[in-house]
Amino acid sequence: MRLLVTGGAGFIGSNFVHQVIQRTDHTVVVLDKLTYAGNRGSLDGLPEDRLTLTEGDICDGGLVNALVAGCDAVVHFAAESHNDNSITNPEPFITTNLMGTFRILEAVRRYGKRLHHISTDEVYGDLELDSPLRFTPTTPYNPSSPYSSSKAGSDMLVRAWVRTYGVKATISNCSNNYGPRQHVEKFIPRQITNILDGARPRLYGTGANTRDWIHVDDHNAAVLAILDHGKNGQTYLIGADGELSNRQVVELILEEMGHPPTAYDLVADRPGHDLRYAIDASKLREDLGWRPVYRDFRAGLRATIDWYRTNEAWWRPAKAAVEEKYRAAGQ
Ligand code: NAD
Ligand code: TYD
Repeated sequence: MRLLVTGGAGFIGSNFVHQVIQRTDHTVVVLDKLTYAGNRGSLDGLPEDRLTLTEGDICDGGLVNALVAGCDAVVHFAAESHNDNSITNPEPFITTNLMGTFRILEAVRRYGKRLHHISTDEVYGDLELDSPLRFTPTTPYNPSSPYSSSKAGSDMLVRAWVRTYGVKATISNCSNNYGPRQHVEKFIPRQITNILDGARPRLYGTGANTRDWIHVDDHNAAVLAILDHGKNGQTYLIGADGELSNRQVVELILEEMGHPPTAYDLVADRPGHDLRYAIDASKLREDLGWRPVYRDFRAGLRATIDWYRTNEAWWRPAKAAVEEKYRAAGQ
């Protein structure tokens, strides 16, 4: 197959491209705008005869049509992805996540191509900290932030195009990813690179907010399984039973990096901060036989810390501007 991968120079998209090249015979065309979040270096070392990178915008209908026409299936990762940025300036989230997804849908409709749409568990809103509930494919959408509401809208567009136009599409909603090549604006890389810089980790609010962590390799193994065996029109939730409070994560990072587990600062909370996300991935496990490989969060975290230690050239150019932005927000 020839796959069009949007957002393939970002954190999860580039990991997907690496997996496709390693595990399949597919060729890949990446369409990526190379925003502040895209990094050509994340695709370094991959064979040129199997990978082409086109720098461009998913909102450019002519470009999207031309690329979709030449591929067998589209895996759509491209998005504005960071909640804090969406609170400061929602506009690019509306443009890329909604209008961009609309362009992709119109192109796959026109050329009759298969689409897999990548989304987030944040479309479901949040859960109480002490609740036994987890998100399932029938949980009602209830997004909180400009980011999660724009992703919710993009999911709704995909569902409508499936039902109304018979577009062949699947959707996955995954929990928080960690692993190599994640932008330093995100929680785990920010704390690791702070410590490498001699600064303290920064926890929003009380640090009690809880996320359901999954290694990016496990996320993309699930995406490949859905691409191969997923049923048209279905939504799959991806998660690896990795619930931890932000405070627990920071304590683990500090311990792994040889610092006292209390050496962090509490800073201004995020407006509208979702309390807790948790995924019930039984449908994915039962229907497609997917299982996470990374079951030991501490070991996955240690490998991630090592990656940031040895790949400073990858993250250093972005670090100062990110910290300046957070400083202005009191975070
Ligand atoms: P990222 O910010 O690291 O990467 C996004 C990529 O999309 C970048 O390479 C960027 O240049 C590109 N892009 C942005 N706007 C574009 C546009 N208009 N046209 C073309 N390319 C554009 O994000 P990520 O963390 O890799 O997330 C990828 C996808 O996974 C997103 O759809 C996100 O909603 C979803 N997701 C992320 C997580 C997570 O924990 N990070 C969890 C679940 C789902
Ligand atoms: P983030 O990586 O932004 O992902 P998301 O908002 O999609 O869950 O943040 C993960 C959690 O970490 C979230 O509860 C916000 C919190 N957080 C901090 O406590 N400190 C930080 O410096 C950042 C960036 C996030």
